[in-house]
Amino acid sequence: MGWIAIVPAAGSGSRLARPDPKAFVSLGGRMLVERALDMLRAVPFDRIAVAVPQERLPAMAGILHPNEIAVEGGPTRAQSVRRAFDALDPGPGDVVCLHDAARPLVSAEETARVMRAAVRVGAAIAATPLVDTLKRVDGRRVTGTVDREGLWAAATPQAFRGEILRRALSAAAEATDEASLCEALGVAVEVVPVSRLVFKVTTPEDLELAEAILARRDA
Ligand code: C5P
Repeated sequence: MGWIAIVPAAGSGSRLARPDPKAFVSLGGRMLVERALDMLRAVPFDRIAVAVPQERLPAMAGILHPNEIAVEGGPTRAQSVRRAFDALDPGPGDVVCLHDAARPLVSAEETARVMRAAVRVGAAIAATPLVDTLKRVDGRRVTGTVDREGLWAAATPQAFRGEILRRALSAAAEATDEASLCEALGVAVEVVPVSRLVFKVTTPEDLELAEAILARRDA
């Protein structure tokens, strides 16, 4: 049984309003994609594939270790994941972890916990229970309050046994995460509670927040 990781890092990150693609934005002196690799190497994984924008492939050569590859990402996250999966071609008994480069504060310990849960049950995701009161809104008008009981925010890492992920990805569906493809197949997915620091860097203030936390840790 091998431990394999896929890093979708091919998004443009237009909401971040930076010239570089999001995964190539520097956070405390290290690009998001490098931070994702640092964390995954500490777990550790046997093999890693990173999906990056085509023009970033040459730069990856200087970053990757011998057991790591870069592939050209696709137009959507789901397609980037499929390309990386095909390049790695995991076996049915391998366990495959997907981790967004855009979540720089996830720890190796949290990722190892998600992996161990996937080894045990087949499919597991890092997630946090929702803390806010949820409103349904039409335009600017509140039309209802959603009961948050039992609602969790799905993050990455997400991990699956190879044969489960292969079946999930063979569905042509465009999902925003792999767990939803598994759910559609009726596969049981376990949540692994993690720190709220697993948040995804999406907007400039997310980047500011992540930068401040890292600076405090390094101080
Ligand atoms: O755009 P969003 O923040 O949801 O992207 C989540 C992750 O998927 C990011 O790490 C991003 O780089 C990656 N992605 C990708 N290929 C795309 C779009 C997003 O690998 N076409």
